[in-house]
Amino acid sequence: MDGINTAIVGATGAVGEQMRKIMQERNFPVKNMRYMASSRSKGRKLKWRDSYVEVENLEEADFSDVDIALFSAGAKRSKKYARKAAEQGATVIDNSSAFRMDIDVPLVIPEVNPEDIKENTGIIANPNCSTIQMVMALKPIYDEAGIKRIVVATYQSVSGAGKKAVDELMQQIKDFQQGKKCKTDIFPHQIAFECLPQIPQSDAFGENGYTTEEMKLLNETRKIMKDENLAVTMTCVRVPVVGGHCEAVNIETKKEISPARAREVLEKFPGVKVEDNPEKQVYPLANSSWGRDEVFVGRIRKDYSVKNGLNIWVVADNLRKGAALNAVQIAEFILKKKTVN
Ligand code: A2P
Repeated sequence: MDGINTAIVGATGAVGEQMRKIMQERNFPVKNMRYMASSRSKGRKLKWRDSYVEVENLEEADFSDVDIALFSAGAKRSKKYARKAAEQGATVIDNSSAFRMDIDVPLVIPEVNPEDIKENTGIIANPNCSTIQMVMALKPIYDEAGIKRIVVATYQSVSGAGKKAVDELMQQIKDFQQGKKCKTDIFPHQIAFECLPQIPQSDAFGENGYTTEEMKLLNETRKIMKDENLAVTMTCVRVPVVGGHCEAVNIETKKEISPARAREVLEKFPGVKVEDNPEKQVYPLANSSWGRDEVFVGRIRKDYSVKNGLNIWVVADNLRKGAALNAVQIAEFILKKKTVN
Protein backbone atom coordinates (compact mmCIF):
# COMPACT_ATOMS: atom_id res chain seq x y z
CA MET A 1 0.00 0.00 0.00
CA ASP A 2 1.61 3.31 -1.02
CA GLY A 3 -0.33 5.54 1.31
CA ILE A 4 -3.58 5.30 3.15
CA ASN A 5 -6.86 6.89 2.16
CA THR A 6 -7.94 8.42 5.42
CA ALA A 7 -11.10 10.10 6.70
CA ILE A 8 -11.58 12.07 9.91
CA VAL A 9 -15.22 12.17 10.97
CA GLY A 10 -15.83 15.06 13.36
CA ALA A 11 -12.81 16.87 11.89
CA THR A 12 -14.11 20.27 13.07
CA GLY A 13 -14.37 19.19 16.73
CA ALA A 14 -11.90 19.34 19.60
CA VAL A 15 -10.71 15.74 19.16
CA GLY A 16 -10.91 15.94 15.35
CA GLU A 17 -8.62 18.94 15.41
CA GLN A 18 -6.07 16.95 17.43
CA MET A 19 -6.41 13.99 15.05
CA ARG A 20 -5.52 16.26 12.12
CA LYS A 21 -2.59 17.72 14.02
CA ILE A 22 -1.21 14.42 15.32
CA MET A 23 -1.44 12.68 11.94
CA GLN A 24 0.67 15.49 10.49
CA GLU A 25 3.15 15.50 13.37
CA ARG A 26 3.68 11.75 13.14
CA ASN A 27 3.82 11.73 9.33
CA PHE A 28 0.99 9.26 9.04
CA PRO A 29 1.28 8.04 5.44
CA VAL A 30 -1.92 9.56 4.08
CA LYS A 31 -2.57 9.25 0.34
CA ASN A 32 -5.87 11.11 0.31
CA MET A 33 -7.31 12.93 3.33
CA ARG A 34 -11.06 13.58 3.75
CA TYR A 35 -12.80 15.52 6.50
CA MET A 36 -16.40 15.01 7.54
CA ALA A 37 -18.71 16.76 10.00
CA SER A 38 -22.31 17.95 10.19
CA SER A 39 -24.17 19.75 7.40
CA ARG A 40 -23.36 22.99 9.28
CA SER A 41 -19.69 22.62 8.40
CA LYS A 42 -20.11 21.47 4.79
CA GLY A 43 -17.73 23.40 2.54
CA ARG A 44 -15.54 24.74 5.37
CA LYS A 45 -11.89 24.41 4.47
CA LEU A 46 -9.47 22.98 7.03
CA LYS A 47 -5.75 22.62 6.72
CA TRP A 48 -4.06 19.35 5.83
CA ARG A 49 -0.29 19.64 5.43
CA ASP A 50 0.33 22.47 2.92
CA SER A 51 -3.16 22.57 1.47
CA TYR A 52 -6.80 22.69 2.50
CA VAL A 53 -9.47 19.99 2.52
CA GLU A 54 -13.15 20.83 2.18
CA VAL A 55 -15.36 19.40 4.92
CA GLU A 56 -18.03 16.99 3.66
CA ASN A 57 -21.43 16.38 5.19
CA LEU A 58 -21.18 13.00 6.94
CA GLU A 59 -24.76 12.17 5.90
CA GLU A 60 -23.75 12.24 2.22
CA ALA A 61 -20.30 10.66 2.57
CA ASP A 62 -19.30 7.48 0.78
CA PHE A 63 -16.52 5.43 2.38
CA SER A 64 -15.80 3.04 -0.51
CA ASP A 65 -12.44 4.68 -1.15
CA VAL A 66 -11.46 5.04 2.50
CA ASP A 67 -8.96 2.65 4.11
CA ILE A 68 -9.03 4.06 7.64
CA ALA A 69 -11.74 6.27 9.14
CA LEU A 70 -11.24 7.92 12.52
CA PHE A 71 -14.65 8.72 14.01
CA SER A 72 -15.05 11.38 16.70
CA ALA A 73 -18.45 12.97 16.17
CA GLY A 74 -20.33 11.50 19.14
CA ALA A 75 -21.92 8.10 19.81
CA LYS A 76 -25.14 8.92 17.94
CA ARG A 77 -23.27 9.56 14.69
CA SER A 78 -21.05 6.51 15.20
CA LYS A 79 -24.09 4.28 15.71
CA LYS A 80 -25.65 5.62 12.53
CA TYR A 81 -22.64 5.73 10.20
CA ALA A 82 -19.69 3.62 11.46
CA ARG A 83 -21.08 0.21 10.45
CA LYS A 84 -21.96 1.58 7.03
CA ALA A 85 -18.40 2.88 6.67
CA ALA A 86 -17.00 -0.52 7.68
CA GLU A 87 -19.33 -2.30 5.25
CA GLN A 88 -18.13 0.01 2.49
CA GLY A 89 -14.58 -1.17 3.20
CA ALA A 90 -13.07 1.22 5.73
CA THR A 91 -11.49 0.14 8.99
CA VAL A 92 -13.16 2.38 11.56
CA ILE A 93 -11.39 3.54 14.70
CA ASP A 94 -14.20 4.91 16.81
CA ASN A 95 -13.60 7.36 19.62
CA SER A 96 -17.18 7.28 20.90
CA SER A 97 -18.80 4.99 23.45
CA ALA A 98 -21.06 3.43 20.76
CA PHE A 99 -19.31 0.06 20.40
CA ARG A 100 -16.81 -0.13 23.23
CA MET A 101 -18.53 -2.91 25.11
CA ASP A 102 -19.60 -4.90 22.01
CA ILE A 103 -18.18 -8.38 22.15
CA ASP A 104 -16.88 -8.31 18.56
CA VAL A 105 -15.27 -4.88 18.91
CA PRO A 106 -11.76 -4.69 20.35
CA LEU A 107 -11.19 -1.91 22.87
CA VAL A 108 -7.56 -0.99 22.57
CA ILE A 109 -4.75 0.92 24.17
CA PRO A 110 -1.78 0.06 21.92
CA GLU A 111 0.74 -0.08 24.80
CA VAL A 112 -1.55 -2.38 26.81
CA ASN A 113 -3.51 -4.79 24.56
CA PRO A 114 -2.42 -4.38 20.91
CA GLU A 115 -2.99 -8.11 20.37
CA ASP A 116 -6.77 -7.49 20.51
CA ILE A 117 -6.74 -5.37 17.33
CA LYS A 118 -6.57 -8.29 14.92
CA GLU A 119 -9.92 -9.82 15.96
CA ASN A 120 -12.02 -7.02 14.47
CA THR A 121 -15.01 -6.86 12.17
CA GLY A 122 -14.16 -3.45 10.74
CA ILE A 123 -14.56 -1.41 13.92
CA ILE A 124 -11.99 -0.89 16.66
CA ALA A 125 -12.98 1.19 19.68
CA ASN A 126 -10.87 3.81 21.39
CA PRO A 127 -11.45 3.75 25.17
CA ASN A 128 -12.75 6.71 27.14
CA CYS A 129 -10.17 9.36 28.07
CA SER A 130 -10.31 8.69 31.81
CA THR A 131 -9.91 4.94 31.22
CA ILE A 132 -6.89 5.28 28.92
CA GLN A 133 -4.72 7.24 31.32
CA MET A 134 -5.67 5.14 34.34
CA VAL A 135 -5.04 1.81 32.61
CA MET A 136 -1.69 3.07 31.21
CA ALA A 137 -0.58 3.62 34.82
CA LEU A 138 -2.14 0.43 36.18
CA LYS A 139 -0.82 -2.04 33.61
CA PRO A 140 2.84 -2.18 34.74
CA ILE A 141 1.74 -2.46 38.39
CA TYR A 142 -0.80 -5.15 37.49
CA ASP A 143 1.85 -7.16 35.67
CA GLU A 144 4.26 -6.84 38.58
CA ALA A 145 2.03 -7.39 41.61
CA GLY A 146 -1.54 -8.14 40.47
CA ILE A 147 -4.39 -5.80 41.39
CA LYS A 148 -7.35 -6.61 43.62
CA ARG A 149 -9.13 -3.28 43.92
CA ILE A 150 -8.96 0.25 42.57
CA VAL A 151 -10.56 3.35 44.10
CA VAL A 152 -10.37 6.33 41.76
CA ALA A 153 -11.51 9.94 41.82
CA THR A 154 -11.14 11.88 38.57
CA TYR A 155 -10.66 15.61 38.06
CA GLN A 156 -11.64 16.06 34.41
CA SER A 157 -11.10 19.17 32.31
CA VAL A 158 -13.85 20.86 30.31
CA SER A 159 -12.25 20.19 26.90
CA GLY A 160 -13.47 16.62 27.33
CA ALA A 161 -16.97 17.99 26.74
CA GLY A 162 -15.97 19.63 23.43
CA LYS A 163 -15.17 23.06 22.07
CA LYS A 164 -18.43 24.65 23.19
CA ALA A 165 -17.76 23.56 26.75
CA VAL A 166 -14.41 25.40 26.76
CA ASP A 167 -16.17 28.52 25.42
CA GLU A 168 -18.78 28.19 28.17
CA LEU A 169 -16.13 28.09 30.92
CA MET A 170 -14.32 31.13 29.47
CA GLN A 171 -17.56 33.12 29.17
CA GLN A 172 -18.61 32.21 32.70
CA ILE A 173 -15.25 33.36 34.10
CA LYS A 174 -15.75 36.76 32.38
CA ASP A 175 -19.36 37.04 33.54
CA PHE A 176 -18.50 35.99 37.08
CA GLN A 177 -15.73 38.58 37.32
CA GLN A 178 -18.15 41.27 36.14
CA GLY A 179 -20.73 40.21 38.71
CA LYS A 180 -23.11 38.96 36.00
CA LYS A 181 -25.19 35.78 36.20
CA CYS A 182 -23.37 32.91 34.47
CA LYS A 183 -25.26 31.31 31.58
CA THR A 184 -25.27 27.51 31.52
CA ASP A 185 -25.88 25.63 28.34
CA ILE A 186 -23.50 22.67 28.11
CA PHE A 187 -23.06 22.04 31.85
CA PRO A 188 -26.02 21.59 34.24
CA HIS A 189 -24.54 24.12 36.70
CA GLN A 190 -21.95 26.86 36.60
CA ILE A 191 -18.55 25.23 35.98
CA ALA A 192 -16.41 28.35 36.56
CA PHE A 193 -14.90 28.15 40.08
CA GLU A 194 -16.86 24.94 40.70
CA CYS A 195 -16.44 21.15 40.75
CA LEU A 196 -19.29 19.12 39.30
CA PRO A 197 -19.64 15.48 40.35
CA GLN A 198 -21.49 14.74 37.11
CA ILE A 199 -20.03 13.72 33.76
CA PRO A 200 -21.51 13.82 31.14
CA GLN A 201 -24.00 16.67 31.13
CA SER A 202 -27.13 14.76 30.08
CA ASP A 203 -28.33 11.18 30.67
CA ALA A 204 -25.67 11.03 33.32
CA PHE A 205 -27.11 8.95 36.14
CA GLY A 206 -28.00 5.28 36.01
CA GLU A 207 -30.38 3.51 38.38
CA ASN A 208 -27.44 2.45 40.55
CA GLY A 209 -26.56 6.10 41.21
CA TYR A 210 -23.36 6.03 39.15
CA THR A 211 -22.83 8.24 36.11
CA THR A 212 -22.27 6.73 32.68
CA GLU A 213 -18.71 8.11 32.82
CA GLU A 214 -18.11 6.21 36.06
CA MET A 215 -19.52 2.98 34.61
CA LYS A 216 -17.25 3.40 31.57
CA LEU A 217 -14.22 3.47 33.87
CA LEU A 218 -15.30 0.22 35.50
CA ASN A 219 -16.42 -1.72 32.43
CA GLU A 220 -13.73 -0.55 30.04
CA THR A 221 -10.93 -1.19 32.54
CA ARG A 222 -12.11 -4.76 33.05
CA LYS A 223 -12.44 -5.37 29.29
CA ILE A 224 -8.99 -4.00 28.43
CA MET A 225 -7.30 -5.77 31.34
CA LYS A 226 -9.27 -8.97 30.61
CA ASP A 227 -10.12 -9.27 34.29
CA GLU A 228 -13.81 -9.47 35.12
CA ASN A 229 -13.02 -9.79 38.85
CA LEU A 230 -11.12 -6.55 39.07
CA ALA A 231 -12.87 -4.42 41.71
CA VAL A 232 -13.12 -0.79 40.65
CA THR A 233 -15.04 1.99 42.36
CA MET A 234 -15.01 5.54 41.10
CA THR A 235 -16.22 9.13 41.35
CA CYS A 236 -15.85 11.29 38.24
CA VAL A 237 -15.72 15.06 38.66
CA ARG A 238 -15.60 17.90 36.13
CA VAL A 239 -13.27 20.72 37.20
CA PRO A 240 -12.74 24.20 35.70
CA VAL A 241 -9.49 23.29 33.95
CA VAL A 242 -9.32 23.71 30.17
CA GLY A 243 -7.17 20.72 29.29
CA GLY A 244 -5.63 17.70 31.02
CA HIS A 245 -7.42 15.19 33.21
CA CYS A 246 -6.11 14.27 36.68
CA GLU A 247 -6.87 11.11 38.65
CA ALA A 248 -6.20 10.14 42.25
CA VAL A 249 -5.88 6.36 42.07
CA ASN A 250 -5.73 4.08 45.09
CA ILE A 251 -4.57 0.56 44.26
CA GLU A 252 -4.74 -2.57 46.40
CA THR A 253 -2.31 -5.09 44.96
CA LYS A 254 -2.29 -8.87 45.38
CA LYS A 255 1.44 -9.01 46.20
CA GLU A 256 3.38 -6.34 47.97
CA ILE A 257 5.02 -3.71 45.78
CA SER A 258 7.07 -0.88 47.23
CA PRO A 259 6.69 2.67 45.93
CA ALA A 260 10.30 2.42 44.69
CA ARG A 261 9.54 -0.72 42.66
CA ALA A 262 6.29 0.83 41.36
CA ARG A 263 8.31 3.85 40.22
CA GLU A 264 10.74 1.51 38.41
CA VAL A 265 8.09 -0.46 36.53
CA LEU A 266 6.19 2.72 35.65
CA GLU A 267 9.36 4.37 34.33
CA LYS A 268 9.99 1.40 32.03
CA PHE A 269 6.46 1.33 30.62
CA PRO A 270 6.20 2.90 27.15
CA GLY A 271 4.16 6.09 27.11
CA VAL A 272 4.39 6.68 30.87
CA LYS A 273 6.57 9.36 32.46
CA VAL A 274 7.19 9.47 36.19
CA GLU A 275 7.30 12.97 37.69
CA ASP A 276 7.71 12.41 41.38
CA ASN A 277 9.94 14.58 43.48
CA PRO A 278 7.86 15.85 46.40
CA GLU A 279 10.83 17.66 48.01
CA LYS A 280 11.03 19.92 44.97
CA GLN A 281 7.25 20.04 44.58
CA VAL A 282 7.48 18.06 41.37
CA TYR A 283 4.35 16.12 40.47
CA PRO A 284 2.17 15.91 37.34
CA LEU A 285 -0.04 18.90 36.54
CA ALA A 286 -2.90 19.25 34.07
CA ASN A 287 -1.49 22.35 32.43
CA SER A 288 1.96 20.83 31.93
CA SER A 289 0.43 17.70 30.40
CA TRP A 290 -1.45 19.77 27.82
CA GLY A 291 -0.01 19.18 24.34
CA ARG A 292 2.11 16.25 25.54
CA ASP A 293 1.83 12.59 24.53
CA GLU A 294 2.83 10.91 27.78
CA VAL A 295 0.74 9.79 30.73
CA PHE A 296 2.35 11.39 33.78
CA VAL A 297 2.46 9.63 37.16
CA GLY A 298 3.55 11.06 40.50
CA ARG A 299 2.78 11.21 44.25
CA ILE A 300 3.63 7.49 44.34
CA ARG A 301 3.30 6.47 47.96
CA LYS A 302 2.26 3.63 50.23
CA ASP A 303 -1.32 3.36 51.42
CA TYR A 304 -0.88 2.38 55.09
CA SER A 305 -4.58 1.61 55.58
CA VAL A 306 -4.38 -1.80 53.85
CA LYS A 307 -1.80 -4.61 53.64
CA ASN A 308 -0.70 -3.97 50.05
CA GLY A 309 -1.72 -0.49 48.99
CA LEU A 310 -0.42 2.30 46.81
CA ASN A 311 -1.63 5.80 46.00
CA ILE A 312 -0.72 7.46 42.72
CA TRP A 313 -1.65 10.67 40.86
CA VAL A 314 -2.13 10.24 37.10
CA VAL A 315 -2.36 13.11 34.60
CA ALA A 316 -2.66 13.19 30.79
CA ASP A 317 -3.81 15.38 27.93
CA ASN A 318 -7.34 14.07 27.50
CA LEU A 319 -7.55 15.09 23.85
CA ARG A 320 -4.20 13.53 22.91
CA LYS A 321 -3.43 10.24 24.71
CA GLY A 322 -6.99 10.27 26.04
CA ALA A 323 -8.46 10.37 22.52
CA ALA A 324 -6.76 11.44 19.27
CA LEU A 325 -3.25 10.08 19.86
CA ASN A 326 -4.51 6.70 21.03
CA ALA A 327 -6.68 6.47 17.88
CA VAL A 328 -3.76 7.40 15.61
CA GLN A 329 -1.54 4.85 17.40
CA ILE A 330 -4.18 2.18 16.68
CA ALA A 331 -4.11 3.25 13.01
CA GLU A 332 -0.31 3.00 13.00
CA PHE A 333 -0.48 -0.47 14.52
CA ILE A 334 -2.97 -1.58 11.86
CA LEU A 335 -0.63 -0.34 9.15
CA LYS A 336 2.34 -2.11 10.66
CA LYS A 337 0.41 -5.39 10.82
CA LYS A 338 -1.44 -4.73 7.54
CA THR A 339 -4.77 -5.62 9.10
CA VAL A 340 -6.72 -2.93 7.24
CA ASN A 341 -10.31 -4.11 6.61
P1 A2P B 1 -19.83 20.33 13.41
O1 A2P B 1 -18.65 21.20 13.76
O2 A2P B 1 -20.23 20.43 11.99
O3 A2P B 1 -20.99 20.51 14.38
P2 A2P B 1 -16.92 18.72 19.79
O4 A2P B 1 -16.77 17.46 20.58
O5 A2P B 1 -15.73 19.62 19.85
O6 A2P B 1 -18.20 19.43 20.12
O7 A2P B 1 -17.05 18.25 18.24
C1 A2P B 1 -18.06 17.41 17.78
C2 A2P B 1 -17.80 16.99 16.33
O8 A2P B 1 -18.90 16.17 15.90
C3 A2P B 1 -17.74 18.17 15.37
O9 A2P B 1 -16.82 17.90 14.34
C4 A2P B 1 -19.16 18.20 14.85
O10 A2P B 1 -19.31 18.81 13.56
C5 A2P B 1 -19.45 16.72 14.73
N1 A2P B 1 -20.90 16.51 14.66
C6 A2P B 1 -21.84 16.92 15.52
N2 A2P B 1 -23.08 16.60 15.06
C7 A2P B 1 -22.90 15.97 13.88
C8 A2P B 1 -23.78 15.39 12.91
N3 A2P B 1 -25.10 15.38 13.06
N4 A2P B 1 -23.23 14.84 11.80
C9 A2P B 1 -21.91 14.82 11.62
N5 A2P B 1 -21.01 15.36 12.50
C10 A2P B 1 -21.50 15.92 13.62
